[in-house]
Amino acid sequence: MEIKERIDQLRKSIEEWNYQYYVLAKPSISDYEFDQKLKELEKLEAESPEYFDLNSPTQRVGSDINKNFIQVEHMYPMLSLSNTYSEDEIKEFYNRTQKALNEDFEIVCELKYDGTSISLIYENGILVRAITRGDGTRGDDVTANVRTIKSIPLKLHGDNYPALFEIRGEILLPWKAFQQLNEEKAKNDEQPFANPRNAAAGTLKLLNPKMVAQRRLDSYLYYLLGNNLPFDGHYENLEAARMWGFKISDATKKCKTLEEVFEFIHYWDSERKNLPVATDGIVLKINSAKQQLNLGWTAKSPRWAIAYKFQAESAETRLLSVEFSVGRIGTITPVANLEPVLLSGTVVKRASLHNEDIINKFDVHYGDMCYVEKGGEIIPKITGVNIEARTGIGEKVRFIELCPACGTKLIRPEGEAAHYCPNHSGCPPQIKGMIEHFVGRRAMNINAGEETISQFYEHGLIHNTADLYEIKKEDLLKLDRWGEKSAENFLESIEASKTVPFDRVLFALGIRFAGETVTKKLVKTFHTIEDLINASYDDLVAINEIGGVIAKSLIQYFSDESNKELIARLKKYGLQFALADEIIAEKTDILKGKTFVISGVFSEHSRDEYKELIDKNGGKNTGSISAKTDYVLAGENMGPAKLEKAQKLGITIISEYEFLSMIGS
Ligand code: IVH
Repeated sequence: MEIKERIDQLRKSIEEWNYQYYVLAKPSISDYEFDQKLKELEKLEAESPEYFDLNSPTQRVGSDINKNFIQVEHMYPMLSLSNTYSEDEIKEFYNRTQKALNEDFEIVCELKYDGTSISLIYENGILVRAITRGDGTRGDDVTANVRTIKSIPLKLHGDNYPALFEIRGEILLPWKAFQQLNEEKAKNDEQPFANPRNAAAGTLKLLNPKMVAQRRLDSYLYYLLGNNLPFDGHYENLEAARMWGFKISDATKKCKTLEEVFEFIHYWDSERKNLPVATDGIVLKINSAKQQLNLGWTAKSPRWAIAYKFQAESAETRLLSVEFSVGRIGTITPVANLEPVLLSGTVVKRASLHNEDIINKFDVHYGDMCYVEKGGEIIPKITGVNIEARTGIGEKVRFIELCPACGTKLIRPEGEAAHYCPNHSGCPPQIKGMIEHFVGRRAMNINAGEETISQFYEHGLIHNTADLYEIKKEDLLKLDRWGEKSAENFLESIEASKTVPFDRVLFALGIRFAGETVTKKLVKTFHTIEDLINASYDDLVAINEIGGVIAKSLIQYFSDESNKELIARLKKYGLQFALADEIIAEKTDILKGKTFVISGVFSEHSRDEYKELIDKNGGKNTGSISAKTDYVLAGENMGPAKLEKAQKLGITIISEYEFLSMIGS
């Protein structure tokens, strides 16, 4: 079989398997087999870059190239829906429609997916553009990111789709992926997403499609627009779209009577808890496009549709006590201990009481019956108090004034809702929390868990992170559960931590808001800790994605003498507080011993830039193809003579994208 033929065959099969897996949720081959076929395709494409196709399933991994989004005007403005929480208003909507149309009509009931909306444009069956809602008139072109979502077809099935049409829907991050993402964020010391909606919207706006590809976004499509749609009925058009390969909700139902509509609403109000993605209501749409036109639009929303929103899941239970916990950076969190109550299928015993202002606003008293809600968020929260159920015995809940751990007077910075314990160097949970963060796998990677840190701290071996470097073998052998071997392991990991690169050391310091991504960015501009300590607010915010909050936090941290002393000690023990010269020069030896020939025209970098990249990564760049050439980096319009020579000599031909991924760019 010809290479091109095999490539086409593999591309088709892989897209079909993707469709079966991601849209139909019915995989037909094993993951292993799938990976083998994908690898085969990747290999063939690498060998024949002249057959490069942006719509190949191999391109779903996303390129690593960051691009700011371009704003694009919508073909049709993206309006919103009028909302209601009341069944009476659904009745009114039905009666109003009946009166206006004065003929039979059908209502399509759909789930209201709680993600971020997207508009997809298909031309001749190919996805050409994906745009966010934006302000409804113009949105961001996020095509490169949307291409990585496996349930969105890049090429449509069949051939009875209009030459040009738009389809709208929701991009979602499933609950499971949302939880995993937040766990990762917590480990990284980054702010978690409050709910899957924010996570989906944030992911879609990431500048790096490769990162988007790793987040496992999903989609449901629910609205077609265009001049040549196959049917008058919205429902029928959705069914056609299902045949073209789109993920259309199975829940969607056509109803004729109000009773059927309410049956749908009541069924899904409880059944939605079993769905893998977040929903927040039901959308009712008049089915016929002609009737839709008759009913028309207001400036903000169509008159032919309405959204019925579910009440957030709520329960009422008694407040038993309030705990105030102290975080690593001294934040005090009030947590309510509750009489256990069932909420969204799980037993809830604790809920957030937010902060002092909210406690006062709700006028919470001990023993009160409180309302607990679990909305799109994972942590339940108190949303109010049932004052009528108060028996009058319990005392008012007051925010504490002294730190529950060390007794220091708490502070509440102006303009903030949170309280802090300022005794960072003397408050046990803060000290232990800071050290636990410091030794973490993504920070200094020292062999010591939570229990070990507590043990060291209780025995007075450590009061701060620098003390870890003073621990001797004989100190360890005096402690319970320590032997020769474990002591040696610990000391080896202490030694190894002295080679941990500067950005991770900076992350390990645990400066508020300075997570992994931020510290990586910082060291690119400030190559030494001295540069960073001396940086002004303006210097800091001049860096892309470093905002005022992060800048202030850094300045505050470095203006504290005890922090500077700590850094001086850590530096004395040999920790890396400067970038290595090779990293500054962005030099690697990834391409060591490899000889390249560059040919053709490129879109991401110029030829000279590619030459420089080869050099920086330890490779050799030569002018003409010979038996010594390892790779030909081929752009567009590569000369046929060169191509033939390379093929004859069996030299691997790679595209610029493959080259960039080779050097991890
Ligand atoms: S139809 C003109 N159908 O809800 C009608 N919207 O408040 C356009 N949404 O921006 C929207 N599920 O992001 C429609 N089945 C569904 C929906 C849905 C979720 C979102 C969508 C829209 C918002 C409107």
